[in-house]
Amino acid sequence: MSTAFDVTGPLPTGVTVLEASAGTGKTYTIAALAARYVADGIPLDKLLLVTFTRMATGELRDRVRERLVSAEQGLSRALAGAPPDRDEVVRLLCEGGRDEVERRRRNLAHALADFDSATIATTHGFCQEVLGGLGVAGDVEPARADERGAWWDPDETARFGRWARRLWDGLLQVEEIVHR
Ligand SMILES: Nc1ncnc2c1ncn2[C@@H]1O[C@H](COP(=O)(O)OP(=O)(O)OP(=O)(O)O)[C@@H](O)[C@H]1O
Ligand SMILES: [Mg+2]
Repeated sequence: MSTAFDVTGPLPTGVTVLEASAGTGKTYTIAALAARYVADGIPLDKLLLVTFTRMATGELRDRVRERLVSAEQGLSRALAGAPPDRDEVVRLLCEGGRDEVERRRRNLAHALADFDSATIATTHGFCQEVLGGLGVAGDVEPARADERGAWWDPDETARFGRWARRLWDGLLQVEEIVHR
């Protein structure tokens, strides 16, 4: 049975599938969750955000950055004594003691200072790296576009490497469980 997803609810662990039609808040939710994980202490470079096209990837990158900025500013305002924020995610992050709120604000500020370490990629770029990491993709082209305009940026390759490894390790674990 499916239930409505609450972006201010407990942070998802394991696999969560969100079904949503166009324009219903997918990107909003992903950006808000990214800000919450980061505020909670997950380093930005431990998050992997993938989407389909280069254009969507650009939008996701901008909106995650904006979300980190607005959350950090919201927490700064709250620490300076402002009344409860209009933003539900900021209100949530303001719960707890002052030290805790300051720690979250600092985590967000650090992530923003190092935003280039964020892995926000097209599925193409990510999968390309998985193939490369497996050493089975002899003739992988350095860059290519498909009919949807998806695009792989070779400059981002190195960053995908560790994520590809983790994905592959995860797949092996799933395979082990399935065949047990
Ligand atoms: N919970 C929310 N609170 C406030 N604004 C929201 C919320 N969810 C979505 N929005 C706003 O609604 C608009 C559409 O949301 P969003 O772009 O995240 O949808 P989407 O599902 O990613 O759309 P698309 O299918 O075009 O990718 C945006 O302006 C977003 O800021
Ligand atoms: Mg979207």
